[in-house]
Amino acid sequence: MDWFHVSLFFHLLGVGMIFTLLFAGPIIEANFRWENDIRMKQHAAKMLRSVGLLSPFGALVLILSGIGNMIFLNINIGDLFGADAWLGIKLFFFIILLGIGMVVSPKTARQRAMLLDQMNQVNPPEDASDKLEALNSKQTVFFVLNWVLVVIIVLITLFKP
Ligand code: HEM
Repeated sequence: MDWFHVSLFFHLLGVGMIFTLLFAGPIIEANFRWENDIRMKQHAAKMLRSVGLLSPFGALVLILSGIGNMIFLNINIGDLFGADAWLGIKLFFFIILLGIGMVVSPKTARQRAMLLDQMNQVNPPEDASDKLEALNSKQTVFFVLNWVLVVIIVLITLFKP
């Protein structure tokens, strides 16, 4: 086993972390939706956020090992726009994935946590359940988008168009 394989090993480990999230996210979300009790919903929302912590670590492992792969394969930044444009396209989709996973989706999760806090009070806001529905729909869009982006990234890596 040479250093390139060590780097590939960590890369695949990172891929595994991302797939764990892709499966666990919707399962915990389903529990969240099925629960009627606000406290139980809060508990599921908290679990979803803690599992989401895998994403920055997964991203870090993927970036570092991805750079490692590039070094061992002699791919430099210029190649991303020429000979190895597949990797350039892959990074483009990866950056969108990062944006959703680390900025947009956590923001929705925070808004949902705040709303649940309000719903748990004696006088919850009247439009609370409509707001919750809207945030839930947003979350569904993110789950679908994450899957689509990761599948695109894997296909690009395999077929190197
Ligand atoms: C969600 C994000 C990512 C996924 C799902 C992913 C997936 C994969 C997979 C499955 C392989 C193994 C291919 C093989 O063994 O033939 C691979 C290889 C590779 N990845 Fe990634 N990757 C991701 C992010 C990145 C990033 C951020 C970089 C660069 C910084 C990168 C650069 C590379 C390189 C250079 C290879 C080696 C390609 C080759 O063997 O020819 N990847 N990736």
